[in-house]
Amino acid sequence: MNETVIEIRNLRIEYGQQTAVQNLSLSVRRGEVYGFIGPNGAGKSSTIRALLGFNRIAGGEISILGVNARDEAARARLGYLPETPTYYDFLTPVELLDSYARLFRMNADDRKSRIADLLGQVGLVEHAKKRIGKFSKGMQQRLGLAQAMLNDPELLILDEPASGLDPLGRQEIRKLIESMKERGRTVFFSSHELSEIETVCDRVGMLVGGELKAEGEPGMLSGKHGVSLERVFINLAQGSDAEVTTP
Ligand SMILES: Nc1ncnc2c1ncn2[C@@H]1O[C@H](COP(=O)(O)OP(=O)(O)OP(=O)(O)O)[C@@H](O)[C@H]1O
Ligand SMILES: [Mg+2]
Repeated sequence: MNETVIEIRNLRIEYGQQTAVQNLSLSVRRGEVYGFIGPNGAGKSSTIRALLGFNRIAGGEISILGVNARDEAARARLGYLPETPTYYDFLTPVELLDSYARLFRMNADDRKSRIADLLGQVGLVEHAKKRIGKFSKGMQQRLGLAQAMLNDPELLILDEPASGLDPLGRQEIRKLIESMKERGRTVFFSSHELSEIETVCDRVGMLVGGELKAEGEPGMLSGKHGVSLERVFINLAQGSDAEVTTP
């Protein structure tokens, strides 16, 4: 119980002379849904790429599922949706997902049923045999989600999953996250959709200028200030009310 699935300690990320993230420490427990919010350029995607071991870090430590984030062993057990997923245009969703499923060493029967199930979950059944090059942004995003879920990951990391999705797609994302939670999975995702954050997250952390400015249950954050989460966001983004709260 209370096993820590993501542990970030004193993270620092730099791009040349620019510091994108600093003094960032946070942890996420197994079964938690954690929302990562903050203004454009706050450092959310940089942090997420570091969680995946893709970003070189200038300082601090990150452990994922008990191992160093740069360790391949962690990556096999998680699912990841990048901020801008890009795939080979000439493949169909079935071909793409099948090639990923082979990487996970799933057998032919499992691949077939898993892919059919996922295409249903993300609402792409009708487009299963269409070339990805002809997909709209929202359709690509849905495909990215299916890809992230393919190995039934213990930890799902999503960088703006609702981006480009219509209201139906957003509702599907909510359901998908909720079903992960029901099955004891851990979800860490960034979003600008504060209403979605309030609905699905157990805890939320807000990054401003690369630093964690607030953290807690979404209801607590807004309740404590007696205002909406949107108002808390705007105040913190504009530099007032800076503080970190823990549940
Ligand atoms: N590859 C890169 N090279 C140089 N600077 C970068 C790179 N990626 C991000 N940055 C810079 O790091 C800072 C944080 O960017 P990041 O993409 O992590 O923000 P974000 O919180 O994900 O923003 P958004 O909400 O717009 O997605 C920004 O100032 C950005 O310009
Ligand atoms: Mg981003």
